[in-house]
Amino acid sequence: VRLQYELERMLQRLPDNQREVFKVQFDGFSKLYGRFLQEEGPSMNWDRIEKLPDDAVRDYGTLPTPTTEEIHTMLDKLVVVKLNGGLGTSMGCRGPKSVIPVRNDLTFLDLTVQQIEHLNKTYKANVPLVLMNSFNTDDDTQKIIRKYKGLQVDIFTFNQSCYPRIDRESLLPIAKDCEVENDLEAWYPPGHGDFYESFSNSGLLKKFVEQGREYCFMSNIDNLGATVDLNIINFLMHPNSNKPTEFVMEMTTKTKADVKGGTLIHYENKLRLLEIAQVPSEHVDDFKSVKTFKYFNTNNLWVNLKAIQRVVEEKSLNMEVIVNSKHLANGMNIIQLETAVGAAMKCFEGGLGIIVPRSRFLPVKKTSDLLLVMSNLYSLKNGSLVMSPLRMFPTTPLVKLGDNHFAKVKEFLSRFATIPDLLELDHLTVSGDVTFGRKVSLKGTVIIIANHGDRIDIPSGAQLENKIVSGNLRI
Ligand code: UTP
Repeated sequence: VRLQYELERMLQRLPDNQREVFKVQFDGFSKLYGRFLQEEGPSMNWDRIEKLPDDAVRDYGTLPTPTTEEIHTMLDKLVVVKLNGGLGTSMGCRGPKSVIPVRNDLTFLDLTVQQIEHLNKTYKANVPLVLMNSFNTDDDTQKIIRKYKGLQVDIFTFNQSCYPRIDRESLLPIAKDCEVENDLEAWYPPGHGDFYESFSNSGLLKKFVEQGREYCFMSNIDNLGATVDLNIINFLMHPNSNKPTEFVMEMTTKTKADVKGGTLIHYENKLRLLEIAQVPSEHVDDFKSVKTFKYFNTNNLWVNLKAIQRVVEEKSLNMEVIVNSKHLANGMNIIQLETAVGAAMKCFEGGLGIIVPRSRFLPVKKTSDLLLVMSNLYSLKNGSLVMSPLRMFPTTPLVKLGDNHFAKVKEFLSRFATIPDLLELDHLTVSGDVTFGRKVSLKGTVIIIANHGDRIDIPSGAQLENKIVSGNLRI
């Protein structure tokens, strides 16, 4: 009741022409908040998880490849969506994450546009690119996408919701009014699960359905492996039975580095995503097991557009509420309520997991990921990164770069005169004040540790193979 009172008070202060926009958002927020208050403890019962039925997942290798003639028609039914609400703060950058240069001075956004333009040119198609922005990323994104005018890609954007952060003690909004620009810390984009309702509210969903489009392919903009896959779209367009697959989640084999990723389970007769946050503490180790739960969610999703319309109209979306606690710069402890896009799988009919090659999951979350994608492990082909055939194993090296000297993109870049040769690298750990000269080659396992007060400069042309370097080495 107090919350409703506060929200109502904030709405009343708004000029008439802005009230409706905030009212829609506040309705969505109140619903999420209501569920947060109701739901206590884990939202599922561990003992009721059933073994995945045989037809719940399909191996990518078993999907047939379409003919070139078929591809054109299929692409007419597709929309590509990139989740672009996030900032680059975790890599020390200001502005949207998608505008960080990742390869040959090209940003995530540039690469995405190149990929789709190439697809459209190759198949004489007109696949649109839709960006889900947030109030944090929209202005910058709008400025940047102007430069893509004239390319063979129609770009559409819509904004996800903007919800008020709440005080952890009082559970009331910390914002005093709806002047978001004046107090950015008091608001947040409520996770990518917000996609369905915001896409529908924007009018774009209806527009695409009316054009005869059937599926959207959605992915994180920072996943460089998430390209449009013709075998998957072919599979979706040729259902075996009259029950179409409304929701496909691309999964990939879990390694020890991915134990926290969400996994697929069979529960109450539906496939659903199980995230670590929903797991009762006594089962966290079971959840992390790479034997029991072999695959994890890449967040590459293919969803039927009419089915999205249905679940939004029926109001049957009930994604688990993620409670994200934060400590703000002004000392305040807040919580923000979020949802994840993959958690909606259980709300759709005919859900399916497709086990895809690891190459479809190439996220750039840290500068250590950036090191890999900037290196000679990959080459760039029409906006897509392709692993070098000179790499002996298809796996990427395990790289750990010290948080104090390498976490921010700018600092990371200043520490490499050129990106080292990583073709034969298995494992790299770098810690402390370390710099790399030109044309360094790293092979096998390399560990470089500069202790506090020391500095290590790896000289140009150095070849380090199965080496530990420590102490003080200045050039
Ligand atoms: P995240 O920041 O959520 O990364 O952004 P994550 O936690 O590693 O990944 P998930 O959540 O497990 O998949 C993932 C993508 O979602 C977008 C970001 O821009 C990024 O592309 N995103 C995130 C939004 O569009 N809106 C949000 O509210 C949050």
